This record gives sequence, structure tokens and C-alpha cells, in this order.
Amino acid sequence: MKKSLKLRAVVSPTPAIIAAAYDENGKADACTLAFYTPSSHTPPCLTIAINATAKRKTLKSILHSGAFTIGYPGVGQAAEADYIGIASGCEHDKIAEVGWTVTRAEKVDAPVINELKLVVECKVVNTVTIGSHVQITGEVVNIQADESILDEHGKYSLEKLKPIIYDEEHRRYLAVGEKAADAFKCGFVFKKKTHGRSWKPLYELFEPLGLLPIDAKCNGEKRDALYALSKTAIGRIELYLPVMKRLAEAIKEKSADSVEFAKSDYRESDCWNQLRNFFENMQKAHIVSVYVKDNGDTLSICPLADRRQFLDGGWAENGMVYLIEKTINSFSKEKRLASFIFWNVTLSNGASWNSIKYEFDAIAKVGKMFYVFEVKTGSILAIDKWFERWSLFKNAGVRYIQCTAKEIDYKPYLPLQLFPIAHFERLLEECLEKDLIKSKDDKETSPAESSAAEHGRVALVAAAKRRKVES
Ligand SMILES: Cc1cc2nc3c(=O)[nH]c(=O)nc-3n(C[C@H](O)[C@H](O)[C@H](O)COP(=O)(O)O)c2cc1C
Repeated sequence: MKKSLKLRAVVSPTPAIIAAAYDENGKADACTLAFYTPSSHTPPCLTIAINATAKRKTLKSILHSGAFTIGYPGVGQAAEADYIGIASGCEHDKIAEVGWTVTRAEKVDAPVINELKLVVECKVVNTVTIGSHVQITGEVVNIQADESILDEHGKYSLEKLKPIIYDEEHRRYLAVGEKAADAFKCGFVFKKKTHGRSWKPLYELFEPLGLLPIDAKCNGEKRDALYALSKTAIGRIELYLPVMKRLAEAIKEKSADSVEFAKSDYRESDCWNQLRNFFENMQKAHIVSVYVKDNGDTLSICPLADRRQFLDGGWAENGMVYLIEKTINSFSKEKRLASFIFWNVTLSNGASWNSIKYEFDAIAKVGKMFYVFEVKTGSILAIDKWFERWSLFKNAGVRYIQCTAKEIDYKPYLPLQLFPIAHFERLLEECLEKDLIKSKDDKETSPAESSAAEHGRVALVAAAKRRKVES
């Protein structure tokens, strides 16, 4: 039996956060808020709501400066957060009164409260008034986390941050509780029939092989915009590679906030136009900011540090991912074969604490064959390491698609290698064709045997050529 309760806005638990902004005199003020919600993934945005019918200095300051920061107080900072939510900046220098200090934010004109261990910098992108409150949506342009709250993977840990939750019903602050279950995983127990990338088929595929899939996530970067950019980069590598290199260098050296590209350096006008398009698309994908100067004759490109992986060579990886997905999907559709592709798969050979974990960039199952891809490492791959991983799959048809970096003699700074991208699609198609659409003659040959036979054939041809040269 359910009962009706008093109407209120804060029904579910929400974190008590602190919004801070500079007023028109450059003075920092802050207020505590419970009206807070994440509101967009791309671009990353969050929305706060501040009462416009009551005294709120922070609201005025945010609207004036167009920027704010959000900080997450920990359980040990409840009293400070509470005071900042009781007193007004109109009469009090609240931040100083609680003994806190501020530093100007890195990316926006707003104060960062130094004592808060997780702070998000936002620029205002939208405001709307609903009833008593002005909803302010801020695009997240920087996140600063104190090292003390980071875990071994460099991710912030709620257990370390210990944020406070506001319970309006009882007017109190609560701490975050224990882990209840794994998100985006535990629900799969109810999923009867699954398609594509999901946990259920992953279990179905690997458990019979004695392997435990412990993780499989689709990389959030794999969006159409990034694929398209990577494809463009691959298509005119001689034009785009030096550009990417300069941008990546600027981030690495911290030498400059922006890198300038002048029209006069690109004599063919189609090159300059293509470059302009490319930068605009990179801006749309939030990899760089573009400033047009000298009536469009100079482009000042500001690479965004948190997207350095893309500039450093991650685009090559994206391109490979695109080709793998495209080739496998079109091949299996045409040949009417069932296929699954899993990205970033971690498999374990047992459930105990000391079992070995094996990480793969991608595993595809097409028909009865498994294809294992290492997208990043290419020619620098240690064969013995792979041999061991290969042996994991020894009871199943497994082909490891090895790509070597022969085609382009350029090594980016990160241990990312470029692959013979132009040939990759063909190479993969040939493998699929050979393994899955075998002719009657070599029906008896297993995939492992046929690849060994292929190696043998290559060796024989090479030996024959050598003999010819010698004679
Ligand atoms: C736990 C808590 C949650 C609050 N949530 C909000 C909120 O979501 N929106 C709002 O306008 N005020 C909220 N307040 C009230 C403001 O923080 C408070 O009025 C503050 O004094 C405003 O300061 P300012 O005038 O310096 O901006 C909250 C206060 C507390 C203690």
C-alpha cells in the first residue's frame, strides 16, 4: 500500500554540491546546491537550478561571468558546505569565513575552491526559467581531481572522495553507501534474447572454452564523427599526418596554447580547403578549437589536452576499428553468417584471484571462427606473449590478425603504430574467405593448418626467388 506525501522537488537523493563564480568585481562567491543533474553526454553538460525569487548572489555572478565551477564536498566538509548554503555572499565572504581558498580555473573565468577534491569547470551554454528557479546548463570543459582521490587506474574514486548526499525529507546529509552491484552488467540476467555487443553472447561464446569474460566495453570514442575524421586522415595521410603531429607536439611540449596554419603554406587551394574542413570537423568532435584570423588566411588551432590520444595516433586506431567493423559486418551479411564483435575484451582463465587476465582490443566471432585483433601494437607485438594468448583458444578456430607497420615510415610518440591501412580491409576479407568459405578441396584443412601452409608457401616462393638470383 502506497501513501501520498507532501509535494516537493527533491524527492530522490542528490549530492550537495558547491557552485562558485566571480562577481562583476572579480570576487569569488559560492552557494550550496541540491538542484543538480548531469544533462548531456555530448558535449558533456550538467544543469543546476538556482532560485531567482530569493536572495542568491551566485546566480547573478554566474549569469554575469558566463562560467562557474562545481565542487563536490566530502563528508568531512559538511559543516562548511552547510554554511555556504545558509549565508549569502551579499553579506558574507563565506569562502574565507570557512577557511577555504580559491584559484582561478584553468579553462573558464570562475574560481576553483582549492579544498574541494573534485571540481568541474563549466561554461554556461543555456539558461531557462522554470517556476521559481533559473536552470543553468554548463558545458564541462575541464575536470580537476586531487591525486588523493584517484585509484590505481587514474579514475576518481567515490570511496575516496566520500561525497555528501542531501536528504531533504529529514534535512540531513548522508554518506555514499556500499557498492550494490555492477552497472550495465547485472541487468543482463533478465535479458532473454540478445543481439550484437552484450554480455550474454559473450558468456555463451567463451564459457565453453573455459574462459571467463570479465569485461567487454565498447569504447565511447567510437562515434561516427571520430570514424569519419580517422577515415579522412587515412585517405590523405601526407596532408594530415604532419598536421596531427604538430598539434600533438603542442600538447606534449605544452609549448603553445595554439598552433597556426597559414594558407600561404598550402599552395594547392584544395589542400587548404580540405584542411579547413578537417579542422572544423575536429572542432565538432571536440578535439580542437578553431580560431579564424587574417580574413580566413590563418587558422589558429587550439588542441584540447584531454583529447591528445586522438591527435597522438588514436585516430589510426579509430580507423582500424572502423575497417574491422565494416569488413566483418559486410562480409557476414553477404555470406549470411552470424557474427559478433566485442571491443576491449578482458578474459580470465579462472575465477580465482590469481587467475591470469588477457586483454584484447577486439574479438570477432564469424561463423565458428574467432578473430583476435590487436589494434594498437602492430609490429611491436611480442610474439611469445601472443603465443600464450593464442593457446587459450586452442580448442576453437582462432586467427590472430597481425598487422605490421610497413607501409608508412612514421612512428607517433605514443606506442601506437600505424598499420598498412589500405591493405587491411583486403587482408581481412581474404582471411575470412579462406577460413569460412573454404573450397571442397581443402575442406579437411583446419584454419591453423591453412595459415601454416600459407607461411610455408611464402617461404618456398622466397627460397625459389633467392635461388634464381644466385644462379
Ligand atoms: C543542502 C542545501 C541545498 C541547497 N540547494 C539549493 C538549490 O538547489 N538551489 C538554490 O537556489 N539554493 C539552494 N540552497 C540555498 C543556497 O545555497 C543559499 O540560499 C545560499 O545562501 C545562497 O548564497 P549566495 O547568495 O551567496 O548565492 C541550498 C542550501 C543548502 C544548505
